[in-house]
Formats: sequence, C-alpha cells, structure tokens
Amino acid sequence: MRLDKYIADTTDLSRALVKIALRSKRVMVNGEQIKDASLQISPTDIVQLDGAALRPVGPRYFMLHKPLGYICATIDNDHPTVLDLLDEPNKKILHIAGRLDIDTTGLVLITDDGPWNHRVTSPRHECQKTYRATLANALISDAEQKLQAGLLLNSEKQLTKPATLERLSSNEVRLTISEGKYHQVKRMFAALDNRVVALHRERIGAITLDDSLAVGEYRPLTEAEIQSIQ
Ligand code: URA
Repeated sequence: MRLDKYIADTTDLSRALVKIALRSKRVMVNGEQIKDASLQISPTDIVQLDGAALRPVGPRYFMLHKPLGYICATIDNDHPTVLDLLDEPNKKILHIAGRLDIDTTGLVLITDDGPWNHRVTSPRHECQKTYRATLANALISDAEQKLQAGLLLNSEKQLTKPATLERLSSNEVRLTISEGKYHQVKRMFAALDNRVVALHRERIGAITLDDSLAVGEYRPLTEAEIQSIQ
C-alpha cells in the first residue's frame, strides 16, 4: 500500500493533510524521514507520525440504533449522519452496510471490512432484512400471497423476490425481504395501494437490534454476529 494511503487509513488526517504532513517532514518509515507519498509500505514497516507509530485499526464492526432525522451517509451538509453518533477514531474508512432512509429508525451495521459489507448488501447474497412498518391504511387481505408471488415496483422490470409478512395489527406489519432496492419497503406497500408512515429495521441476517441500545447508541458486534454474515 502507498505511504499516503497508509497514513490516511490509520489516522484522522485527510489525504490533503497527509501530503502536508509528509512535506513538513513529520513522517518516518523504519526510522528514516520520508517525503515520498508513493513509497510502498509492507506489513513489517514501522511508520511514525510526529514520533508515534501508526498501526492499522480494525477490522471494526458496529451495530447502531438509528434515530429519525439522521442520514445514512458519510457526509451531509444539511443533516447529521449516523457516523456523527460514533465516538471512534478514523471514521472516514467506516462504511454503512445497508442504508436506511432519513425517516427510518432501527438497525444499521457499520464496518471498515469491505468484503463483509459486500456480503450484507450485495443482491447475490440475499441477506434477509426484517422491518416493522406502520401503514396508513388497513392492509388488503391477500397481501401475503402478493408478497410471496412478487410485486412489480414502480420503474422496475423484475418482480420483487418472495417476501414474508406477519400481521401485528390492522395497520402494523413485520416484513422480511432479501433485497434492498431504493425505498424498497415503501415502494412494496405502495404497490399494495398502501403507504408506510413509520418504518423500523429490526434485523439483518441473524443480527437483531439489541434491545438494550437506546436510540442513537451503538456497540461493537460480537464475534458470533460477525461470523453469522457468510
Ligand atoms: N425500505 C425503505 O423504503 N426504506 C428504508 O429505509 C429501508 C427499506
């Protein structure tokens, strides 16, 4: 890996600040002052910034209880982002494994492990997600069959994959789906002539939102939770 990327990945510095640090002779590699950003770093090299050794952090895996009004993005000019809720170093290499809309609450997974993130989000892995939805109107009687057979969503060419529905009350349901298209759940209920007025994600694969996490709180995943995503 290039030296500038190594420093950016192991500190809170942006690439631009890394360049300045290199030019200001603040970086040593194996005891030697280095200004060359393109120098290749191997795992045995010792890189120091201002005399302190830099070590790769991670891989890191977190679950977060997303509040309303937060955006699932790394930066946003108008709204707080879910990353603002993390008190962790070097947040710029963390990514959200499956975004929620600004008005959706519940389970968000955050990691700096790219392949793991891919297994959560790629359609090929069909990782199941469970949502609790409050609907504007009572749900039609044959919703289960329609969801099982697949719905044609607005502006899509293919039917949705089979989804399972549990009725909690006349206008509250639990829906499990294995895909994650843009506004998928809201569009699925729109296709059933209904409207989602509140949406909460409870589960991704075998990982369930921890009851003990208050809205806005987060915790590292357990080893079993990490390993459950295959
Ligand atoms: N489906 C939606 O419509 N919104 C979400 O936030 C997640 C799934």
